[in-house]
Amino acid sequence: MEEPRFAAAGALIDEDVTETSLRPHHLTEYIGQTTVKDNLAILLEAAKRRGEAADHVLLYGPPGLGKTTLANIVARELGVDIRPTSGPAIERPGDLAALLTGLDERSVLFIDEIHRLSHAVEEILYPAMEDLAIDVMIGRGPSARSLRLTLKPFTVIGATTRAGRISAPLRDRFGAVYRLEYYAEAELAEIVRRSAGILGVAIEPDAVVAIARRGRGTPRIVNRLLRRVRDHAEVLGDGRITPDQAEAAMIAMDIDDQGLDTTDRRLLAAIVQKFASGPVGAAAIAAVIGEEPDTIEDVYEPYLLQLGFLDRTPQGRVATERAREHLARLGYDVPPPRRVERIDPGLWDGVTAEGRTATEAAP
Ligand code: ADE
Repeated sequence: MEEPRFAAAGALIDEDVTETSLRPHHLTEYIGQTTVKDNLAILLEAAKRRGEAADHVLLYGPPGLGKTTLANIVARELGVDIRPTSGPAIERPGDLAALLTGLDERSVLFIDEIHRLSHAVEEILYPAMEDLAIDVMIGRGPSARSLRLTLKPFTVIGATTRAGRISAPLRDRFGAVYRLEYYAEAELAEIVRRSAGILGVAIEPDAVVAIARRGRGTPRIVNRLLRRVRDHAEVLGDGRITPDQAEAAMIAMDIDDQGLDTTDRRLLAAIVQKFASGPVGAAAIAAVIGEEPDTIEDVYEPYLLQLGFLDRTPQGRVATERAREHLARLGYDVPPPRRVERIDPGLWDGVTAEGRTATEAAP
């Protein structure tokens, strides 16, 4: 018998290293997000020609679409250092003051989850971004006084999954605001081919498509799927990724033909089965499936909304007919929905969604 291959186990341990190695380093290598790339290219070229720090950039959109990657590319293209941090990591105004005063000329300060900065820290960031100045307090009590420090020119790149949670004064300080969109299947296929090339794994064209189709519009996810499928191909086959192997790996990971995993399906099934397809609030769904409401809103909901499996109404989340059909096809119990479609009474004169008249439908 052939020796077992331990490359697969190694790949698990090296996950973060591999993820980083798959990231593009230049805008020209970066696949997708054409509008953002075109705009960034001009912003960077203009800053380079003038020999100035680039304007502050805010990137927003669902997780895994490449915000951190783009921030690193910006710094590399400008030929400057990048100092990565995050909203929750900057606890006190003094932490931010230390970061800002330690920046080199024209370097990039990357603030991930910028919507989680505290108000007190934001207050320091405003004059820093606008006037390259921070006011620090020296001493305590009656003898305390404020000292204005001047900073070297720098660029803030802020990233967030929640543009709506950023205060208006902070958003206004960014000269460029870009929204990252989910990737098209063809773009994800290109990313899978590129990543397979970097990992040195042979992959058949239909296997590329099988992975891209289940990638939830997200490069981080297709790269993760590719690594798992590669494990399968190495351990159970001869290392070459065939469509059959890709499909078998997806089944083993419980990922369905829409790219939904067990948590996505538990979320939809909870709405359909426990709340009669909604409407229901995020907190109630979170309690039923045992996830944080923020995780549901940031990680799971955006793609379900994009797929048309979920609607957000003022009354709460609603599982759509498409979601109900998907679950039914997978063998889930799908009880009738509680809701009645909203119909303009002027148009339909008392006829409800079920086709009965309003009087018949009334209890
Ligand atoms: N790897 C992860 N994201 C990528 C992208 N947008 N383009 C190329 N490779 C990637």
